Amino acid sequence: MSKRPTYEPHESPSLTPEVRVDLPREASEQERLQLDRPAFRDWLELRVGWYGFVRKNLDEPMPPGVGWWQTLGNLLLTLLMFQFVTGIALAMFYSASPETAHASVKHITFNVTLGSFVRGLHVWGSTLIVVVMVMHTLRVFFWGSYKKPRELTWVVGVLIFQVILGFSFTGYLLPWDQKAYWATVVGTRIAATVPFVGDSLLLLVRGGPEVGALTLTRFYAAHVMLLPAALMGLVAIHLYLVRRHHIAGPVLPQRGRPVPFYPNQLFKDAVVLLVGVGMLIYMAIGFPPALEGIADPTGTDFSPRPEWYFLGLYELLKIMPAGYEMLATVVIPGLISIGMLFLPWLDRSDSRHPARRQWIITSGMAVILLIGLMTLKGILETPPPHEVPGETPEVVAAK
Ligand code: HEM
Repeated sequence: MSKRPTYEPHESPSLTPEVRVDLPREASEQERLQLDRPAFRDWLELRVGWYGFVRKNLDEPMPPGVGWWQTLGNLLLTLLMFQFVTGIALAMFYSASPETAHASVKHITFNVTLGSFVRGLHVWGSTLIVVVMVMHTLRVFFWGSYKKPRELTWVVGVLIFQVILGFSFTGYLLPWDQKAYWATVVGTRIAATVPFVGDSLLLLVRGGPEVGALTLTRFYAAHVMLLPAALMGLVAIHLYLVRRHHIAGPVLPQRGRPVPFYPNQLFKDAVVLLVGVGMLIYMAIGFPPALEGIADPTGTDFSPRPEWYFLGLYELLKIMPAGYEMLATVVIPGLISIGMLFLPWLDRSDSRHPARRQWIITSGMAVILLIGLMTLKGILETPPPHEVPGETPEVVAAK
């Protein structure tokens, strides 16, 4: 008589509990059937181990005191997914050449079904990502969560920050309207102020001496190929490191044992996610993105307006006396970036408490104040888009 199969957990530890038999005994008829002809989810579990993966993430330990501030990372992830999906949809209709770019964006905005909505999600999504990313960075900064052993989680975060700004800068040119064109003329001119290599850098970024067809091609390639590849790699490393070192608790450890991510923290994440995505949808519907007249490189009366989060730098550049522009374009942003990158090593204090990190917190506040005030000045001095002739959607649509 042939021996009936027995099934022991250690033989296939990844089987779902439904199939797993914990007692080392002979498998029942039903269990034998389940083993011989597993249901699809069990078959998949044996091959990819998704159950274990999901379980591990739901069980991720949250130290006591972790709460709403720790929801921003997952909100960022969700917003990034929205950007990818809406970006792919827009790329299906977009055509990157000075002759067709503006017309294709106009077509998306006024003719394609849900085109204006999808474009709105993408445009407002980029703004929301910057806002949430700044909040996430400030949370990590004030909590001192960049300290040992999370130095590299922070460094990768700083690189992500730069890549996201790169997305905004390159994406801004794509509609090829007046605003896009002149902001890029001014923005790329910054490259020329870099000592020694400035002129070559300008040529590299623009693809020629002027902003033209090759600039648009380069920006498009960076926006849809180079930067997404870099971002995906960096975010994957970031998340791996976050999981490896787990979330840091509050600056002063609280009493109690860590609790699993599910259900309490997952609930908070879900609430913040719904609010964030709700706001995004509201903005996309309530404030559809504008499109100005087509770029006119011969026009000289257009006052350039960069995206709002570059306004601080732009204002800094405007107030610099002649001959000192490099301070605003290279020295100050360079020092801030290097300071951010090396922050975990600049901060030598062994406590995460803000009171014990006085010079770091003071320097951080000074930077925040400088960027904040300059941005505010820029916003106050920028004319609203509808005051610029030829900017209302109706006028553009009629062109
Ligand atoms: C799109 C960009 C980003 C995504 C998707 C992301 C995602 C996440 C997630 C999911 C977490 C865990 C939950 C939380 O703490 O909120 C986290 C933690 C962290 N992030 Fe980010 N992040 C991004 C950008 C950044 C930036 C720009 C920085 C810093 C400059 C940064 C530094 C950190 C650090 C140090 C932690 C660990 C915090 C702790 O243990 O308390 N991240 N991030």
